[in-house]
Amino acid sequence: MSTVIGYAETLREQSADIDPETREAFLAIVHDEARRMQRVVEDLISLSRIEAEKFTTPTEAVDVGQMVEVSIESARRIAERRGSQLVARVAPELPPVAADRGQILQVLDNLITNALRYGEPGTPVTVSAYLQDAMVHLTIADQGEGIAPEHIRRLTERFYRVDTSRSRSLGGTGLGLSIVKHIVERHRGRLNIESELGRGTTAHVLLPVAAAAEPSLS
Ligand SMILES: Nc1ncnc2c1ncn2[C@@H]1O[C@H](COP(=O)(O)OP(=O)(O)O)[C@@H](O)[C@H]1O
Ligand SMILES: [Mg+2]
Repeated sequence: MSTVIGYAETLREQSADIDPETREAFLAIVHDEARRMQRVVEDLISLSRIEAEKFTTPTEAVDVGQMVEVSIESARRIAERRGSQLVARVAPELPPVAADRGQILQVLDNLITNALRYGEPGTPVTVSAYLQDAMVHLTIADQGEGIAPEHIRRLTERFYRVDTSRSRSLGGTGLGLSIVKHIVERHRGRLNIESELGRGTTAHVLLPVAAAAEPSLS
């Protein structure tokens, strides 16, 4: 915010002495910083909404395969920019999960964006979904730089980033995985991030199958 205010003040107070090129450069900084602030505010609002609903278990029957398709479609532009292929592997006849549709999309969007941003350009990102022990198991895997073990357990902390300036320049707010963790917890699911330095990262999300869809024991 101080950057935006600082540049805006300079532009107003010294406008007579600033040449058009410098002026354009300053305006571009103001614009980019304001956009970044907007993303941070949006993510913070998201987090408080999710927290406020923490004790209400989601009940919509959500088709995870369909959510994977929707989020892959919305990540297509950034995938193309990175030269990365998005591969979906969804098991047939996956039962629905008891979920909040918008929040499942948020989980997928955040994890897919991370995989594309921190994966090696030109390598694929694979999203898979299959059934395991009455849970739908989602994985988002990249081939990238990976994450050192000492960082892994801190990744879901608010604003925690392995490389702050890099994440910032890639458009990150440092809140994505914190949002993912809160959503998964609200769904009584589990989140696990597995990574090997120099090889890549796989995020695992387990979500309980909707009650009516659970296989009957009788
Ligand atoms: N797939 C990944 N590969 C390598 N590092 C990752 C991956 N996903 C997340 N990270 C690291 O975890 C940090 C936190 O992720 P996140 O909460 O999504 O914030 P952001 O992406 O906005 O920085 C990132 O800054 C990055 O350092
Ligand atoms: Mg992120």
